[in-house]
Amino acid sequence: MKIAVIGTGHVGLPTCVTLSSLGHEVAGTDANAESIALLSRGTPPFHEPGLDELLEQQAASGRLRFSSDIADVVPGAEVVFICVGTPPRSDGRANLLAVELSARDAARHATGPLVVAEKSTVPAGTAARLKGLLARERPDVEFEVVSNPEFLREGSALADSLRPDRIVIGAEAEWAFEMMRRVYEPLTRKGSRLIETDIATAELAKHACNAFLALKISFANALARLTERAGADMVEVADVMGSDPRIGRAYLDAGLGYGGSCFHKDLLALQRVAEDLGTDFPLLREVARLNEEAIQAVADKTREALWNLEDKRVALLGLAFKPETDDVRFSPALALAQRLLRQDARVVGYDPRASANAKAELPALEICVDPYEAAAGAHCLVLCTEWDEFSHLDLARLKSLMAYPIVIDGRNLFDGNAMRAHGFTYYPTGRRAVVPDRAAT
Ligand code: UGA
Repeated sequence: MKIAVIGTGHVGLPTCVTLSSLGHEVAGTDANAESIALLSRGTPPFHEPGLDELLEQQAASGRLRFSSDIADVVPGAEVVFICVGTPPRSDGRANLLAVELSARDAARHATGPLVVAEKSTVPAGTAARLKGLLARERPDVEFEVVSNPEFLREGSALADSLRPDRIVIGAEAEWAFEMMRRVYEPLTRKGSRLIETDIATAELAKHACNAFLALKISFANALARLTERAGADMVEVADVMGSDPRIGRAYLDAGLGYGGSCFHKDLLALQRVAEDLGTDFPLLREVARLNEEAIQAVADKTREALWNLEDKRVALLGLAFKPETDDVRFSPALALAQRLLRQDARVVGYDPRASANAKAELPALEICVDPYEAAAGAHCLVLCTEWDEFSHLDLARLKSLMAYPIVIDGRNLFDGNAMRAHGFTYYPTGRRAVVPDRAAT
């Protein structure tokens, strides 16, 4: 099939390479001409495991191309996927301007019956608006809008979109369902579950998934405050809870809280959807508040461990909002850095991929080239993002470099016994601290 993708960011680009690898002819475009120039040369504009290889492979197949000119992309397409950003406005509502402009562009360049598929996360009711807009722009063309939300996670985006656990299609007209079945046939043939529903249900289901995942994380973080005080172990509590298939173990890892562009924005947007529909959903506000509390808890632990923060060097390991990405949007590590900087600590950080983005976002943060440079002279080290390389650190070397051997583990990555054996004072999250007998702090 001929497919156009508008928006080649963290959702749109994996969508392009996935659809192309399913055998479709895909053309991608983006308002960011620099990003399209990179893509046309075969270079992904952000880090995502496996993306370089798949992009190269699909470009070589001749099925995947990019252009900054929408007029090169939409004509001839049977389906246009809208994958542009929907950032929060100051009142929390999703800003849908880019979605509207994309739909207008799609209408202007449509050459035949066209399915416009929303992949951007949008509030319930958006498809209805788009349908009206498309009909006004081009009364001569038959359009159907479908909601086809994306459930991919950054860091495992390709695996998630090449082997999705579900494909959700919300539509009205049978021909639009049929078109979308054809798009995903290579995946449904291999067993991916296809859920067909109405448009509002599909739109709302996406918000519901992200809000519920955020809720699980905030629940674990609230419980971690409790287990710390009770002398209990949050990781084991989560294991016990997770053994119940009705609960499940995923997203019960307590720590520095959730980050990334999706959970924050979708929680806010869902609150506004609820308000706009005349109902209140205060639980969502509490989920967000508990996430702030999780970051503050680590800031408080740092201050508690170091007494006065002025002129103390705090080394942050991991700056990306999660491992395997260079994305620092709403990164808990940077939120923590800001809080520590406000208290006049000297904050340095290291990340395997996200250092440049972190520096651009927070210029006051000193960037180090490796974990050991970060640790040198540090009075405290805070593990913020659980990159795999941090599980293999030379703990003896780390300790010999630090001014004070204090480690705060915002992701429960380190092993308490190893920390004890190396003489660290160690504060995990929701678990018992390791405090050597002779530790003065
Ligand atoms: C999230 C959803 O997981 C995807 O299903 C969805 O498609 C995507 O948003 C989206 O709407 O685009 P993503 O934000 O990429 O994906 O990352 P996650 O892996 O879900 O992690 C989000 C944050 O939660 C990270 O900061 C992570 O460290 C944190 N987290 C995750 C925890 O603090 N504890 C956990 O147990 C799990």
